[in-house]
Amino acid sequence: MSQRSIHIKTFGCQMNVYDSDRMGGLLTLGGYLWEPDLRKADVILINTCSIRDKSEHKVLSLLGQLKPLKDENPKKVIGVSGCVGQRLGRSLLQRVPHLDLVFGPDSVDRVKELVDEVVLNGRRVLETKLEEGGRAYSQPTHVPTRPSRPAEYLTIMKGCDHFCTYCIVPFVRGREKSRPIHEILEDVRGFVAGGTKEVTFLGQNINTYGKGTGETLAELIEKTHAIPGLERIRYVTSHPRDLGEDLISQFGKLEKLCPSLHLPFQSGSDRILKAMSRLYTRDEYLLKIEKLRAACPAIALSTDVIVGFPGETDEDFEKTVEVLNRVEFSMAFLFKYSPRPGTRAFALSEEIPEVVKEERLARVQQLSLRQIERENGRLLGTTVQCLVESIDKKGLCYSGRTVHNKLVHVLNSGPSCQGKILDVEVTETNGSNVKGYFAGAPRVVRTA
Ligand code: SAH
Ligand code: SF4
Ligand code: F3S
Repeated sequence: MSQRSIHIKTFGCQMNVYDSDRMGGLLTLGGYLWEPDLRKADVILINTCSIRDKSEHKVLSLLGQLKPLKDENPKKVIGVSGCVGQRLGRSLLQRVPHLDLVFGPDSVDRVKELVDEVVLNGRRVLETKLEEGGRAYSQPTHVPTRPSRPAEYLTIMKGCDHFCTYCIVPFVRGREKSRPIHEILEDVRGFVAGGTKEVTFLGQNINTYGKGTGETLAELIEKTHAIPGLERIRYVTSHPRDLGEDLISQFGKLEKLCPSLHLPFQSGSDRILKAMSRLYTRDEYLLKIEKLRAACPAIALSTDVIVGFPGETDEDFEKTVEVLNRVEFSMAFLFKYSPRPGTRAFALSEEIPEVVKEERLARVQQLSLRQIERENGRLLGTTVQCLVESIDKKGLCYSGRTVHNKLVHVLNSGPSCQGKILDVEVTETNGSNVKGYFAGAPRVVRTA
């Protein structure tokens, strides 16, 4: 039998990107060939996100578009992995007859076995078991099936124990479980040996990494810091209640720990925070921000906000605007509340009309953009250090990130910049875009 080709399409958060990368690696090691064109692949896998209703719609509509391919070639295998797979499970298989395979996030490491089962035995396969929480999980050390990237993401824990009332994550990713420090360090060393300069640790509720295992995030950061050749460390996502003094004090002390932190506040109203079960008040959140800025004055902060949670009044919303004004985040991810079946908030009746949600979203978007523009404006004429991560499709323009996680486009690209940390003189800021030239290099813009 000739080798089968595979394509994985990814939706959702960095954790899904990481899982897709891992599945791609495991499948290529297992003899499948990567096919860059989704429509041409023998096996099409869609790694999905369930966080908002819209995220699920995208998946269902893509599945609809793929039906003619399956009609044309019944041997084609179509699978859904990730959070929609976990949430809908059997009902997704029932609803989409041309779907062959459905599995959840905890079965990523079994992807080859699951795909083989469909390919070799022609069976429809469903696998939605979630691992038990509160303990360590072991994951075979990363086997490089591609060159190391300048900046790598690494999932260090799975699941979430918080159950914020609007959120589907604990239902689709299960309870918290953490990978042991020694395994993580081995992966990081492997990446660094291949040229990686920056690592970002991933977890939905990363501050409680190590729960039930005796290890902590602060300990992991310290040990990672000692790895020679690694230059930058980041982690996401922190929860304001779980971000402890040990972690706060590391900012400004550990030079490889980037002075930037993502700390979602969701709402500035204590009433809404309570209804969301976020377990902190507005003042407690602002106190954490104060402490972070005391530990590291230059720290760049980013956040997530939900507008239009059930029962959110104009007054509640103004309190959210007030927090945005006060903190002046470097980046804010702003969402309209989307009811998720099975969550506690789903049953709440005081739904906010769509037009009001839209209005509120537009207001915070405008505010956030103005703040980002102001911050970027202050960068004009300065020199920033960027880790050059990638080059555009035409091979003309590099992009990189500063320690503050600011994306910078570099216009005078040379052939061997990728993977280096270089000085960039900022010459142009336009909205949220920052552009510049490598310092000391000719300012000639290459054209195709
Ligand atoms: N674990 C992280 C991120 C969770 S998902 C955290 O605790 O912050 C990323 C963001 O999506 C959340 O921070 C929240 O702002 C948003 N989100 C989650 N559920 C949502 C929902 N039902 N409707 C709208 N936005 C939601
Ligand atoms: Fe969802 Fe809350 Fe857990 Fe974040 S902390 S993943 S918002 S339940
Ligand atoms: Fe989406 Fe699942 Fe991530 S719901 S945000 S892909 S954890």
